[in-house]
Amino acid sequence: MKLLIKNGHVIDPGNKIDEIMDILAEDGKISKVTRGIDVKADTVIDAADKIVMPGIVDMHVHLREPGREDKETVFSGTKAAAKGGVTSVLAMPNTLPSIDSAGVIKMLSDIIKKTANVGVFICGAITMERTGKKLTDIAALKKQGVIAISDDGNSIDSDELMWQALKEAKKEKLLVICHSEDKSLSGKGVVNLGITSTRLGLRGIPKESEYKRVARDIMLAEKSGANVHIAHVSCGESVEIIRKAKKKGVKVTAETAPHYFGLNEEDLLDYNTNMKVNPPLRTKDDVLAVREGLKDSTIDVIASDHAPHTENEKEIEFEHAEFGSTGLETELAVSVTELVSRGVLTWSELVKKISLNPANVLRIDKGTLGPGKDADIAIISADKEWVVNKVGFASKSKNSAFIGRKLKGAVEYTIYKGKVIYKA
Ligand code: DOR
Ligand code: ZN
Repeated sequence: MKLLIKNGHVIDPGNKIDEIMDILAEDGKISKVTRGIDVKADTVIDAADKIVMPGIVDMHVHLREPGREDKETVFSGTKAAAKGGVTSVLAMPNTLPSIDSAGVIKMLSDIIKKTANVGVFICGAITMERTGKKLTDIAALKKQGVIAISDDGNSIDSDELMWQALKEAKKEKLLVICHSEDKSLSGKGVVNLGITSTRLGLRGIPKESEYKRVARDIMLAEKSGANVHIAHVSCGESVEIIRKAKKKGVKVTAETAPHYFGLNEEDLLDYNTNMKVNPPLRTKDDVLAVREGLKDSTIDVIASDHAPHTENEKEIEFEHAEFGSTGLETELAVSVTELVSRGVLTWSELVKKISLNPANVLRIDKGTLGPGKDADIAIISADKEWVVNKVGFASKSKNSAFIGRKLKGAVEYTIYKGKVIYKA
């Protein structure tokens, strides 16, 4: 099987390519990236005036299977991924049951084999049932194929247990993804603590609950020598702590999500529960700090934190609504609109943050378009504008914080292992 992509603007920072090229894929792998490829192919795509980039590697996705198939499944979530130009996802372990044993991983792996539309990698839990009490058998999880561990949704309060987890993760050469939140400070809060929480009459979540835990996680990372990744950075203080740690040479990477650089707490003034996320939307200054962190490479990765929830869980009083926004189908366009169009990142830098860097952080052989690599590719109309509409989503859940927004940048084709899996 041959697939030929003609005349696209290929952006592949892993191979320092940023120019008009053709790409030939044979039997699922890239075979050539050069000008003027003239061979007979089974599929030919004219990509003139389009950007051709490595498929997005989204390292923070809640697929909800097993247990909450009413919100999302491996099948529906990876359909949404395909629609968003995403060809690899890391599935987070806050499922029912949690991904905390070899048996659950085996079951999920079988579901993935049968139903996934893109590459699905598995993140195991750090503690049993993600309750922060007893470590999982981290070596057994690794043996069963997880590529990272996290209690995402929860943070591990006990320093001692976190320390044990980091030591074990280092031994097993596993990445630890930190949901850094001190619950004793965030408590029952639902929005950022400050003028907006006062105006809305809602309980606030102070930034301290995030950055104090970021500082703890980094301190333990430094001492243990484990690879630590800080998930969904939302405030300026966290950015600054990570910046300093990196300068010091601590092995830490960090991620933010599109809602933390595309929205701020004032967008909540009409109580839109789709914008209720954890950590919460912060201030305009925090948004600027997060953008600055992306620009100066303090923040390595953009990931969606795709968090699907049903209408019953979202179309209720703000206090009772679940935290989370879907994101797989909008992350590229929000990034183009809020970062590239504003001059925060170049296109090549964006591809680094959303495809290459996450692949490197996860140590998976994705995120580039070199010969011999999987032909995982997204083809984009960079200037095409569209309005996010609830009706068009492939995800089972429709709780996007960006519904109604006009965005720039549209996915035209997604190719996974040499096959077109999405066409606009
Ligand atoms: O907004 C969020 N939703 N933040 C999290 O940490 C968990 C996630 C979810 O699983 O719904
Ligand atoms: Zn989280």
